[in-house]
Amino acid sequence: MKVPDTAAVTALVAEFADPETGRGLGPMGQIRSVAAGPDGIAVTIALTSHSALLWPATRARLEERLRTAFPSAGPVVVTVQTHERAPGKLGQVGLEAKSVIAVGSGKGGVGKSTVAVSIAIGLARAGSRVGILDADVYGPSVPHLVGLSGRPQIDGGRIQPLHLEVGPHPLPVMSMGFLVPPGEAVVWRGPMLHGAIAQMLRDTAWGPLDYLVIDMPPGTGDIALSLSQVLPLTGAVVVCTPQDVALLDATKAIAMFRKVQIPLLGMVENMSFFLCPGCGKRYDIFGSGGARRTAADLDIPFLGEVPLQMAIREHGDAGRTAANYDDDASRPFFTAICERLVGNLAAAHAARPPLPSLPVL
Ligand SMILES: Nc1ncnc2c1ncn2[C@@H]1O[C@H](COP(=O)(O)OP(=O)(O)OP(=O)(O)O)[C@@H](O)[C@H]1O
Ligand SMILES: [Mg+2]
Repeated sequence: MKVPDTAAVTALVAEFADPETGRGLGPMGQIRSVAAGPDGIAVTIALTSHSALLWPATRARLEERLRTAFPSAGPVVVTVQTHERAPGKLGQVGLEAKSVIAVGSGKGGVGKSTVAVSIAIGLARAGSRVGILDADVYGPSVPHLVGLSGRPQIDGGRIQPLHLEVGPHPLPVMSMGFLVPPGEAVVWRGPMLHGAIAQMLRDTAWGPLDYLVIDMPPGTGDIALSLSQVLPLTGAVVVCTPQDVALLDATKAIAMFRKVQIPLLGMVENMSFFLCPGCGKRYDIFGSGGARRTAADLDIPFLGEVPLQMAIREHGDAGRTAANYDDDASRPFFTAICERLVGNLAAAHAARPPLPSLPVL
C-alpha cells in the first residue's frame, strides 16, 4: 500500500474551512497534529465552541475528504479539540458574545418563546456557551418555560442570572419575570423600556458567550429598536404559523427588522402540521408550506418547521422545554433548525473580510 504523504495531508487539512469563520484551519492555527503513515491517517483539529453543533458533521466531512484524496491510506481518524477564540465586547453594553440572535414574530402566541428557548437549549446541549435574555418585559414567559423562579442575587454590582443545566456549561437566563412579582403589571413607557433592556444586558453577569438568544415580545418594533441601539445584533429569526394572517404579520415583522437594520437569519414555521399519534397520519391544520413560500418570496432562509404536538405544550407548561430534545417526535425538528441556523452564520462569517492570520503551528 502506498504510504500517504504527511505534507499533502497537512495541505488538505490547512485548506479545510472552520465552521465558525469559514476560513482554512491552517491559516487560523487550528491544526493540532497530523500523522500519516503505513497505518493510516490521524489528524487532530481544534474547533470553537461556537460551532459545537457542527463538530460531528465537520469531522465526518474532513474524514470523507481525506479518504477520497488518499484512497489507499488505510483508516482515517479525525479528532476534535476545543479551540479558544474569545468573544469581543459588543456595543454600549459591553456584552461578551460572539452571536446575538433575536427571536421575534409579528403575531403573538405563535410559539416564539418556545422556539427561542429550544434553539438556546439545542446549541447549549451541543457544547456552546449560551445565554437567554427574555426581552418580553410585558409578559415574560421564559421563566415558566424553563422552570426557573426566584430573585437573582446582586453580587459585585452585577445581577447574577439564574442558570439552566442543559449542557456542559450552565446556561444563564435573565428575565423581567425574576425581578417583578408574577401577576404584577408593569407599565413601561418608552425610555424606561429602553433602560430596562439595556440594564438587563449590561448589568447581568452573563460571562463570555458564544450565543445570546433573545426572546422578543410580539409585534411592536420598540424593543427591536432599543436592542439595535445598544448592541449589534447578529440577526433575527422570525417565527410564524402557516396561517395567512400569521404570515402577513410575519411579513410585517420582517419589514420592521429590516427598517432597524437587523439582518434576517431565517424563518421558522411552528405548528406546521399535526401527526396523529394514533394513526400516524399528517394533518395540515393551518395549511402547509406557507412560511417556506413566504421566506422564499422575501429572500430569507427557511430554517425549518416544528409540528403541533401535545408534548411540546406539556413540556412547556411543566417548565421542561429541554425535554423536547429527549423526545424522538420533536428532537429532529429542533435540531435541524439549530443546524441550519449555525450553518448559515458560518456562511455569513465566511463572506466577511478575512480575520488576521495566525502563525501556522
Ligand atoms: N409546536 C407546538 N406544539 C404544541 N404546543 C405548542 C407548540 N409551540 C408552542 N406551543 C404552546 O403554545 C403556547 C404559546 O407558545 P409561546 O409562549 O412559545 O408563544 P409566543 O409566541 O412566545 O407567545 P407570546 O406572543 O405570548 O410571547 C404555549 O403553551 C406553548 O407550549
Ligand atoms: Mg413569548
